[in-house]
Formats: sequence, structure tokens, C-alpha cells
Amino acid sequence: MSEQRIGGTTGSAQIPNRTTHITGWGHEVPAATLTNADLEKIVETSDEWITTRTGIRERRIASKGETTASMGALAAARALAVAGIKADDVDLIVVATLTPDHLMPSTAVLIKGALGSTRAAAFDLSAACSGFAYAYAVAHGFLTAGLGQRALVIGAETLSRSVDWSDRSTCVLFGDGAGAIVLEALDLEAGQGAASRPGTLSFELSADPSGAYALWIPGGVGDGADPLIKMDGAKTYVYATRTMAAVATAAIERAGLTPAQVDLVIPHQANIRIIEHVSKAISFPMEKIFVNLDKYGNTSAASIPIALSEAVAAGRLKPGDVFCTVAFGGGYTSGAFVTRWGADPAHGARAASVDPASIRVVRPEGGAKADEPPAVLQAFLDRRHR
Ligand code: ACO
Repeated sequence: MSEQRIGGTTGSAQIPNRTTHITGWGHEVPAATLTNADLEKIVETSDEWITTRTGIRERRIASKGETTASMGALAAARALAVAGIKADDVDLIVVATLTPDHLMPSTAVLIKGALGSTRAAAFDLSAACSGFAYAYAVAHGFLTAGLGQRALVIGAETLSRSVDWSDRSTCVLFGDGAGAIVLEALDLEAGQGAASRPGTLSFELSADPSGAYALWIPGGVGDGADPLIKMDGAKTYVYATRTMAAVATAAIERAGLTPAQVDLVIPHQANIRIIEHVSKAISFPMEKIFVNLDKYGNTSAASIPIALSEAVAAGRLKPGDVFCTVAFGGGYTSGAFVTRWGADPAHGARAASVDPASIRVVRPEGGAKADEPPAVLQAFLDRRHR
């Protein structure tokens, strides 16, 4: 057996005139659905309250054995199939998540194992709901610096296991799922300006410590540290509306474009009222903003790659279109990137070739806490599992 490489392909030189482009995409959401009517049986709430305040109608809940790593691995396998490449064609696997299966090993290493990759470098990245924008930026930097040719960028979450199911102000908001892309290095031709340049065009990333304890999970080191999400919803709402418009505008300007030249905005799917606010603030019509939060709720770092995957499948992106993603989240963090889409959307059909049974994440002997759904949801999971 040949010796396995631990790291990715490492180069040394900065490569000029190089950008990145998306060549594969995919997502995975649990089969089990928890509706607003179901939530009425768990906490004192109503479908009317949740729908009017957030736009969320249902969310997906991971069943026993479904984890951040297992969903991320399946989304990643689909992205590889869509790109038409093998796991060993990838030099880097980066997973954005705030709900890793474990603090160690990283989810990315578990996903690497499930995909059968022998050579990619792999690590997790923590930037809450902005994680996918941060991870995309890190992978872009890795590839344009010449450290490799291809990266898997994954956003995956099992928020149902980090939610306090007795706290109605948070438990109605979140859901589980994963999305992934293959990002590849792309050499630019001379003279390609903003109006025609292919691939990744710009980023805007920010971090604001003033929100550190307005949206947080106390757990970390320390005996009995609380592992459940705490949120000051009103403060976070104000931050979200301000930052989403600001970072989206900055990223679009940095790409040398105006909002009118952007064909689709894919925002973090937290709350329809926040998205409508952004639509007004950057004068971007709702018809050009992709929304699927009614089906999935807020899936944190997974929300943008799931939405991207669904947007392509829905025919909302065609070669030459420019899209902007924009997110905010715990930290506080926010992030946006602007990319010109280049792939053939028909390649999405290749995802169906992935057999979910063939993608298996190794679990520790005797199982792990990460595999177990909260007891309060078990009755709904039993009833809803399709
Ligand atoms: N059902 C019924 N009533 C509720 C519920 C519920 N599920 N949750 C809260 N309430 C009550 C509160 O107890 C409060 O009652 P009170 O006035 O008697 O004290 C009242 O509703 C608050 O109502 P509003 O002020 O109208 O609520 P608001 O319009 O602020 O909406 C919401 C609340 C949806 C949480 C909003 O603040 C929000 O979306 N904030 C941003 C949250 C967010 O996106 N977080 C994710 C961040 S991303 C990440 O990194 C994880």
C-alpha cells in the first residue's frame, strides 16, 4: 500500500492572473421535517407567529446517525460527481460549521475519510453563519496562491442538537443540512475586465466583537460548559439588517460592478424580514433574491451552499450570470462574495449517481453523542421519517 499523504499539494509561488470558479455543487438535507404545527406541541408558539416574524414554515431535523459529517460528506460527494472529478483530485477540504461532530477530530477529516480521499489537507473553520463565505475566501486564497488546483468547500450543520428546545425564541429558527462546492483554480486571459472576467470576482469579510455574547454557545473547554445556543434576537436583527446591506454593497463595488449588473443574490437564510430589508437597502428586487428559508429555516453555514445548489437546479443561474452571496452570524461575523457563474447547470444531474450508502463516516466505538437527536424530537422523527 502506498504511503498516504497528510497534506495537500503545496506550491510556493504566488500565481498572477489566477482566480477560482465553481465546477461542482450539491447538498443534503435530512428527510425528517419539523413543521411550525409540530413546534406548537413543543413550546408555546404558533404557526402564525413564526411565519409572520420569520417566514419559516418547516425545517429538517437530523435523525439518529445523521451528523454534520455525514450530511457534509454526502453533499461533498455530490459536488465531486457534478464536477466530474474524484476525491483524490482535491487538494483541500474546508468545512464551515458551528456544530462539528466533535471538537477533535475536525469534521473535515471525517469527511475526507468518508470520501476516500488520501491526499487532501482538511480542516474546519468557525465563523458561524458567515462560515461559508469565510471558507470560500480561504479556499480561493489557497488556490490562487498556487497551493493546489481544487478545493471542496463545505457548509454543514446539525443545529437541532445545539438548540434549547425549551426556548421558543431560538428553537423555531434553526434547521439541519449541508451544502458543498468544488472550487477550482482558473487562469485568466489578459485584458479580462470586470464586465467579462470569469469566476470569483470579490470578497468582503468582517468581524465585530461587540456582538460576541449576543449570539453564542457558551460550551468549549470547561466541565459542564453549556452547549446550547443563546441569542439576543432584537440586537442580532439590527446587526443583520445593517451588515448584510453594507457587506453586499462593498463586495459588489469591489468587483467593479453595480447592483444592477448582479443577476442573483443568495443571502443567508435566517429571516425573510431581514432579506426584505436588504432588498430595499441595496435597491435589489426580491425577484432577483433566492429564498428557501420557508423549507429549511436557518441552517447557519450550510444555508448559502444549500441555496446555491437549489438555485442552480431551479434554473436561476446560467453561464455568464453574476451572483452575490451575503451572510451574517455569530461573532458577530459577516461576509459576502461575488462570482460569475460558468458551469453548465445540466451537470447538476450527475449528483444522482451518488449512492448515499457508499458514503460512510467512521464513528467511534460505541457511538457518540453527536449521533443522537434530542429526546424531545424523537416522537416527531419517528412519525415524519420518510
Ligand atoms: N412564539 C411566540 N412568541 C415568541 C416566540 C415564539 N416562537 N419567540 C419569542 N416570542 C415572543 C417573545 O417572548 C416576546 O414576547 P414579549 O414581548 O411578551 O416579551 C415577543 O415574542 C417578541 O416579539 P417581537 O419583538 O415582535 O419579535 P421580533 O419581531 O424581534 O422577532 C426574531 C424575533 C424573529 C427572533 C427576530 O428578532 C430575529 O429574527 N432576530 C435575528 C435572529 C437571527 O437571525 N439569528 C440567527 C443568527 S445567524 C447565526 O450565526 C446562528
